[in-house]
Amino acid sequence: MRVLGIESSCDETAAAVVEDGRIVLSDVIASQAAIHARYGGVVPEVASRHHIESMAPVVRQALDDAGLDFADLDAIGVTYGPGLAGSLLVGVNTAKALAFARGLPLVAVNHLAGHVYAGWLHQRGAEAPPPRFPLLCLIVSGAHSDLTLMTGHWQFQRLARTRDDAAGEAFDKVSRLLGLGYPGGPAIEAAARAGRPGVVDLPRAEIKDSLDFSFSGLKTAVLRLVQAQRAVPPATADLAAEFQAAVVDTLVRNTVRAADRFGAVEILLAGGVAANRMLRERLASATQLPVRWPRPRWCTDNAAMVAAAGYYRYKLGQLAGLDLDLDASRKLGLNAATIPALHP
Ligand code: KG4
Ligand code: ZN
Repeated sequence: MRVLGIESSCDETAAAVVEDGRIVLSDVIASQAAIHARYGGVVPEVASRHHIESMAPVVRQALDDAGLDFADLDAIGVTYGPGLAGSLLVGVNTAKALAFARGLPLVAVNHLAGHVYAGWLHQRGAEAPPPRFPLLCLIVSGAHSDLTLMTGHWQFQRLARTRDDAAGEAFDKVSRLLGLGYPGGPAIEAAARAGRPGVVDLPRAEIKDSLDFSFSGLKTAVLRLVQAQRAVPPATADLAAEFQAAVVDTLVRNTVRAADRFGAVEILLAGGVAANRMLRERLASATQLPVRWPRPRWCTDNAAMVAAAGYYRYKLGQLAGLDLDLDASRKLGLNAATIPALHP
């Protein structure tokens, strides 16, 4: 079964065709990152405008790359939230128009579920094992830092979130403070390679009796150090290295605790920050459980993940109507209160 995925929640216009929820037949991403870089972050109005311009050619390209036509598709999956309303609107309306015109079933995909389903994507011939449940997902992106327990396909229960900034947002803001540019994650990771963690000391926030995250104090601590160093040339690489280590330590600590507490059999890293090498390595060595992560291209926003998540939702019979509306602040999953902890 072949699903066309459409993604436009932030600054990537993307379309992809995925077979049976895992095999990527095509995967087109038109990134606007270079356009937004000069503003130091995504400008919503500019993003919507570019989605409108790019969407039709990107969808066409996805079909061409797969060597398929609309008649070869079985369904369309589209991101309907969370994300920027004006940007989501372009993807949702494109998907609805195509579903109507071609008589294809439509599936609504939560962007965060998409990030999770990126974990099992592969190219034909490069098979990887299927997911095992219960699975603990650390979803870390520009807007989210969630610990989510997945007990089956499209069964999500949220265990923790960030109380303030998301991990990716902290990378972006600190990168701007250090003059390293946008997007901040890759810029800080690159700068950190020349630095040493521990030369300066940054806090690792821990919220009492909670698996929730908090990164705003860390960001403020960096700001103070940058201000204090005005007289002396700032040791940017050392600051970047310590900042990255502080974020990673916090994420790893809570993820390992959550996996243990809720009896997860596997851990999955998802979202843009999952591209971070230190995060992958430290998490893998902090637990006995298998830790998985998507290939770097599928960590950040793409449409293959949307097609994949759409396929599994379609299999559950959860189809959307042509009255589908975007939901910019859509959450993923039930509240954690419904799950008993194995090891409280
Ligand atoms: O998932 P994503 O592409 O978009 C959202 O859904 O938000 O995530 C983008 C975020 C940005 O904040 C970016 O700085 C961060 O992911 N990111 C990274 C890395 N690559 C991207 N953070 C840390 N290390 C990286 N290598
Ligand atoms: Zn994303």
